Amino acid sequence: MKSFAIANIKGGCGKTTVAVNLAAGLALSGKRVCLFDLDPQSASTFHLVAAGANGNLADCLASEKKLPEILARTLVDGLTVAPGTRLLAPFDNGGHPTRDRLRQLLGQVPPEVDYVLFDTPPTWGSLLIASLSCVDAVLIPVATRELDLRMLQLLQDVIDQIRRHRNPSLRIAGILPNRTIRTRLSGRIEGELRTAHGPLVYPPIRETARLAEAGGFHAPIQVSSPSSAGAADFEEVTRAFLEREERSF
Ligand SMILES: Nc1ncnc2c1ncn2[C@@H]1O[C@H](COP(=O)(O)OP(=O)(O)O)[C@@H](O)[C@H]1O
Ligand SMILES: [Mg+2]
Repeated sequence: MKSFAIANIKGGCGKTTVAVNLAAGLALSGKRVCLFDLDPQSASTFHLVAAGANGNLADCLASEKKLPEILARTLVDGLTVAPGTRLLAPFDNGGHPTRDRLRQLLGQVPPEVDYVLFDTPPTWGSLLIASLSCVDAVLIPVATRELDLRMLQLLQDVIDQIRRHRNPSLRIAGILPNRTIRTRLSGRIEGELRTAHGPLVYPPIRETARLAEAGGFHAPIQVSSPSSAGAADFEEVTRAFLEREERSF
């Protein structure tokens, strides 16, 4: 099992979109995937779990439930969600206990699971720090806008600190340009990412209305709109992810 935090300190860059649709892409490729929704806004849960969740990650972090009890099924075979809740908010100020509990929860992931993805909050709080402290790698979606490029530097500083103090083997799994549009700015920023980070940069996800509306169907893009540009882009990203990660297993 390999674990990944989908993280950036910037809201709206596509963490949830990437977590949901990459998790679905991997499951559709035959992998067993568990998505932890660690954002109090719980958008991944809304996106993938229509109703009937039997508990959530706040119950687990409070030691009231074990992870397998709360795992919710989705429309995609092989993809389960550990649901988020607004009750995660207090854990964002939780310091060490949040970190230790989250690491224990990773240990409760069913043995058949190949990939665990964490969707994380956009804030620099305990939930993000705890996530980065216990995963194998971080995947960073970046919207191709000026402000996002600046926030990437801040996130890299956080990652360096985490490596120094908590998780020396934390790896950057990749940087994923999202919301690309045909403007000079978007093209320039994607180019700058490739110049600075070379092979770490994933194929881009274009800005498309289908991706924006997919959440309302409680389904990933591969199910809600399989012949869309968004589904095609996530197929590319999933293929690139598997090529890199299965090689380094
Ligand atoms: N490639 C894309 N094309 C169109 N809309 C997108 C795309 N990526 C994200 N969005 C939309 O932008 C908003 C923010 O994306 P989201 O994935 O929730 O970001 P985050 O989790 O980083 O805050 C959402 O409404 C989402 O549907
Ligand atoms: Mg989100």
